[in-house]
Amino acid sequence: MGFLNLVWPQSPSHVRVNGPVTGGGLSQNGKFTYGYASSQGKRSSMEDYYETRIDGVDGEMVGLFGVFDGHGGAQAAEYVKRNLFSNLVRHPKFLSDIKSAIVDTFSHTDSEFLKNESDQNKDAGSTASTAILLGDRLLVANVGDSRAVICRGGDAIAVSRDHKPNHTDERQRIENAGGFVMWAGTWRVGGVLAVSRAFGDKLLKRYVVSDPEIQEEKVDGTLEFLILASDGLWDVVTNEEAVSMIKPIPEPEEAARRLLQEAHERGSADNITVVVVRFVTEEEESSNAPVREPSSASQLHEGHTCKQSQ
Ligand SMILES: *[C@@H]1O[C@H](CO)[C@@H](O)[C@H](O)[C@H]1NC(C)=O
Ligand SMILES: *[C@@H]1O[C@H](CO)[C@@H](O)[C@H](O)[C@H]1NC(C)=O
Ligand SMILES: *[C@@H]1O[C@H](CO)[C@@H](O)[C@H](O)[C@H]1NC(C)=O
Repeated sequence: MGFLNLVWPQSPSHVRVNGPVTGGGLSQNGKFTYGYASSQGKRSSMEDYYETRIDGVDGEMVGLFGVFDGHGGAQAAEYVKRNLFSNLVRHPKFLSDIKSAIVDTFSHTDSEFLKNESDQNKDAGSTASTAILLGDRLLVANVGDSRAVICRGGDAIAVSRDHKPNHTDERQRIENAGGFVMWAGTWRVGGVLAVSRAFGDKLLKRYVVSDPEIQEEKVDGTLEFLILASDGLWDVVTNEEAVSMIKPIPEPEEAARRLLQEAHERGSADNITVVVVRFVTEEEESSNAPVREPSSASQLHEGHTCKQSQ
């Protein structure tokens, strides 16, 4: 039996208007709620993808969240969104050794994408900022420069490291593989790519690997929420600002939309996707407060457009 995933509205990804796409849901056990917001222009130019999913593996409930920021076309981001978590939950070691299951799955999904890629799409690549919830474990696995930040006990803590080509160890790895890093507006692998790890990127694959870095956090009542977002947010909003901005907002969908709006107002020109997962804290549990649901789904989905700064 799968786990019931309460989602509103029914098919949020099919709402394609000229504002952001937003949506959210609630875990069946009432332990967390989640929401997302993604800026939406013309569909063809949108290279950010995201996934929010609640699944069951051998009777264990699993939460799967990801932000995939594409470059050189949307093909890689779209492929990773479609396949990464499906491959992961099918991995035979998912419950017994989740970290090695994550490492294997990232590598396998990247190889499958590269194998199947048409000649025109050799430059397509994608980041993956992912969070996997299993019992009281939160595993954050990252490739590229999208970022995961948590709020624990009121503090903003980055739980992933941006993979930039000029980081000492990344530059060393690239040079050891025979590549180079040079300045071209920003630091770039081979003078081309501004991230040092990614899915896809066939032409640079020897240097631009898809090995994730994994960090584990405990879901223990002091963990308040998690933010996953593409660099379109982090380029203009600091970790601390993002955390303090949404701390008072109980509904994760509204929180995600708030961050998107702030990034637009601060002039971010990039595609922006934000996923927020909010946990029930000790305080809320002891006061027996029910998990807060959006007051009205339709109200949340209508008539909202982000201010676009020109
Ligand atoms: C998304 O990013 C691409 C370039 O990466 C840009 O051409 C496009 O206008 C952006 N779309 C939105 C909605 O920001
Ligand atoms: C591989 O590419 C073909 C043609 O582009 C497509 O129809 C097929 O669905 C792809 N397979 C996977 C696993 O993505
Ligand atoms: C990498 O380059 C950026 C500018 O693109 C700079 O802000 C940052 O400090 C550099 N990091 C390291 C480790 O050199």
